[in-house]
Amino acid sequence: MKTEKDYDFVVVSNRLPVDRVVPANGEAFWKHSPGGLVTALEPVMRASAGAWIGWAGQPDLEFEPFYSDGIQIVPVPLSASDIENYYEGFSNDSIWPLYHDVIASPSYHREWWESYVAVNQRFANAAVEIAAQGAVVWVQDYQLQLVPRMLRLARPDLTIGFFNHIPFPPYGIYSQLPWRTQIVEGLLGADVVGFQRVADASNFSRAVRRLTGYVTKYPNIEVPAYDGGAPRRVLAKAFPISIDSQSFEELARRPEIQARAREIRDGLGNPKTVMLGVDRLDYTKGIGHRLKAFGELLEEGRLTVEDVTLVQVASPSRERVQAYMQLRDEIELTVGRINGDFGTMSHTAISYHHHGYPREEMVALYLASDIMLVTALRDGMNLVAKEYVASRFDNDGVLILSEFTGASDELRRSLRINPHDIDGLKDAIVQAIDMPRVERQRRMRAMRNLVLRNNVDRWSAGFLDALRGVGQLGQPDDDDDPLGDLEWTVERIRHR
Ligand code: G6P
Repeated sequence: MKTEKDYDFVVVSNRLPVDRVVPANGEAFWKHSPGGLVTALEPVMRASAGAWIGWAGQPDLEFEPFYSDGIQIVPVPLSASDIENYYEGFSNDSIWPLYHDVIASPSYHREWWESYVAVNQRFANAAVEIAAQGAVVWVQDYQLQLVPRMLRLARPDLTIGFFNHIPFPPYGIYSQLPWRTQIVEGLLGADVVGFQRVADASNFSRAVRRLTGYVTKYPNIEVPAYDGGAPRRVLAKAFPISIDSQSFEELARRPEIQARAREIRDGLGNPKTVMLGVDRLDYTKGIGHRLKAFGELLEEGRLTVEDVTLVQVASPSRERVQAYMQLRDEIELTVGRINGDFGTMSHTAISYHHHGYPREEMVALYLASDIMLVTALRDGMNLVAKEYVASRFDNDGVLILSEFTGASDELRRSLRINPHDIDGLKDAIVQAIDMPRVERQRRMRAMRNLVLRNNVDRWSAGFLDALRGVGQLGQPDDDDDPLGDLEWTVERIRHR
């Protein structure tokens, strides 16, 4: 068992990569959650004494650090009031709507901010305690934006990365935030601040210029010395995240998953076209816009329920935040209306599911669907779009993709739509239904090449390689993103 200050590579994220499962009449146990980030970082963790710091998703759950699949899991417990103020409040009712172009109105409360500062400090302290001399600490996402500076002040020996999984808004919106300067300074504690899109990185650089006056020359930002330290050059640029594409393809090729896909279509009454939406039930996803377009197409008789079914998976999310409760009511009312108006005894217009499903079932659904509808109003990346593409080893299926997602920067052979333009969305749906097979294949093949090449391993290797090259003035980024051997990258950073 390792002791304090022994870890060369530390990941800090709000949620841990394990879930606590409590069976009805059995003992609680931990289940590894197989997200893309975990899959990408596991080899680095194993090869370089890695630890993962985070919250276990329930109030006041205190437990000793433990190993799960080669990763040292280190808990940061949150009390009910931390959850209310730091997580549901500041993270998900101030920052989340603000960073998604104020689609919902953000609320700003000083108690939430105070809690955000205090909880960020606890995450930072946990990393300070366990990181070895010269270790690499990689902080994830908008819940922990103050951690990089807190780490830098306590441990100037560390190499610090930060990756923002969600958008970073234009200055005109960002400037609403009462604590806008503290957040920017918090992020600038890192050596590398990564964003999904070039637009996010330039929004950030502009916020830095406006709020601090530091010199920025994309992708670099010159940050003055902290007490006793040296001035630093921070790299702020885009590293578009991806998925473990190969494992999606591998699942899709399994006969039992293909059999399940056929079973799903049979269960829907074998319509000519199955359309699919898969989202966390979140107001950024444009689920209502999608339903409106589909409802109008049925109303106008351009589509019929005998021919087309929409499957909508809406996984439960942040259910105690008011805006999410309201959204659920609106969506479920609309689904009920459309089904009531257009359903027949044998065909339902929308097959709606308020659940999350295991990856195997999702891949079967991807294979069963002729059209994937991604209509987000704003989305950092949208990994579901990439999952659909990675799963379609048969080179079939049409992706309708909102231009307001990070994924649309890369997936240019999708049918790109503006979800606010309902007529345009309706036309794209009809175009997708009528698209000849050769064109579907041409588009899907091009997108698959990209998604299989730019997988999540390449993403993490690119980010860690950038971390190796920066941190001190005099080492400008040469922007060539070399992909080193992932497992050796952390070692190379420590000994640079
Ligand atoms: C987004 C965020 C993640 C977050 C996830 C689920 O993808 O970028 O940081 O973990 O949503 O949200 P939750 O609030 O349940 O963690």
